Amino acid sequence: MNRNEFARRRRHLLRMMGEGSIAILPAKPVCKRNRDNEYPYRPDSDFWYLTGFPEPEAVLVLVPGRKHGEYILFCRERDAQMERWSGSVAGQEGAVEQYGADDSFPIADIDDILPGLLENRNQVYYTMGRERGFDQQLIGWINRLRGKARAGVHVPDNIIALDHLLHEMRLFKSAAEIKLMRQAAQVSAQAHCRAMKACRPGLYEYQIEAELLHEFVCNGCRSPAYSSIVAGGKNACILHYTDNRDRLKNNDLLLIDAGAEYQNYASDITRTFPVNGKFRRPQKALYNVVLAAQQAAIEQIRPGNHWNDPHEAAVQVITGGLAKLGLLKGKVSTLIKKEAYKTFFMHRTGHWLGMDVHDVGEYKVGNSWRVLEPGMVMTVEPGIYIPPGSKGVDKKWWNIGIRIEDDILVTKSGCEVLTAGVPRTVEEIEALMRSPES
Ligand code: GLY
Ligand code: MN
Ligand code: MN
Repeated sequence: MNRNEFARRRRHLLRMMGEGSIAILPAKPVCKRNRDNEYPYRPDSDFWYLTGFPEPEAVLVLVPGRKHGEYILFCRERDAQMERWSGSVAGQEGAVEQYGADDSFPIADIDDILPGLLENRNQVYYTMGRERGFDQQLIGWINRLRGKARAGVHVPDNIIALDHLLHEMRLFKSAAEIKLMRQAAQVSAQAHCRAMKACRPGLYEYQIEAELLHEFVCNGCRSPAYSSIVAGGKNACILHYTDNRDRLKNNDLLLIDAGAEYQNYASDITRTFPVNGKFRRPQKALYNVVLAAQQAAIEQIRPGNHWNDPHEAAVQVITGGLAKLGLLKGKVSTLIKKEAYKTFFMHRTGHWLGMDVHDVGEYKVGNSWRVLEPGMVMTVEPGIYIPPGSKGVDKKWWNIGIRIEDDILVTKSGCEVLTAGVPRTVEEIEALMRSPES
């Protein structure tokens, strides 16, 4: 992403913060996997959004109106010996020249420098409770200033969560962000097609996971955006199933919920298809209910409609469909009022999508559902889940878990499905699984 994009975001935030304030945002620490071995480092999304700075041990400080520069970046000092082992670091010079900081100091000096930056500020924008160690450090700096109150130093009165301003910004995706999300979506769509073609009875779920990962990594997406769910048969009824260890059975469905992350932007796709390439009759009947629910939900996505409109549409279609198939009994309007559908469809129809798979942004403003606006990106993912042993449910429906999930951008005139590159209908899926190269 272009450097100007990060600069534009910081300018926007600085304007909203106003004079007399300061914002402080630490990078996420490295996380140990086991002795001497770390998880791959993935920057905190808020920190990345404002800096594009990829290193840990860094702190962003924004001070509107500061004469010597409004954007200060604390980061590691360069060290030739260390860099032989772990690769190059930007250092203070790099922070200024490559990352556009106005001023940069070694992270080791933060205790000496930050209290001075806090002096005479009225409010501190900082989100408590995320980095416990850093919370303590900040409280320590403020207490130190209190000791200087008699010398006329003004101590900030308010600590305000930075989240409110920042997450509102992140909810609206810029053209540059949409480009990255499109790429993540396209790679994920290819991966799902690859998985459909590779699928055979007798394979293990992790072998299908390997197909997905292969497509992600080969296309520059080094990590999935979340742990992939590859769930055959009854496993699909466990909503967060990630063991991916069972053998795929003939006549079962396979539910795959997997999305690539591209340059820190997520995609999130679910497809459900027959392990042997051909839907059985009950599977097809339920699949078409979920598909119709998803279609009805997507049709509700346009500026002016509210966040819950797609969910309400999905609930309507799923309840109607379950009633028609005899899985629910009674009048559809009563079943909806009593939330009877929740036995089979117990989650929401979607969430915001962005750098985080469950992205930031409020779903309500005051007591009202949020009105949709261009630039928002959301998922639409209705489902029906019928685990084995479901009471009062004919056995022919057992072991069926179906979800269909796509990523949708709200546009000026309606919406665009970013993940359209992977088949959705019964006919399209069966045709792809039959195709000669599969
Ligand atoms: N993969 C997480 C979700 O669908 O919400
Ligand atoms: Mn999702
Ligand atoms: Mn998902």
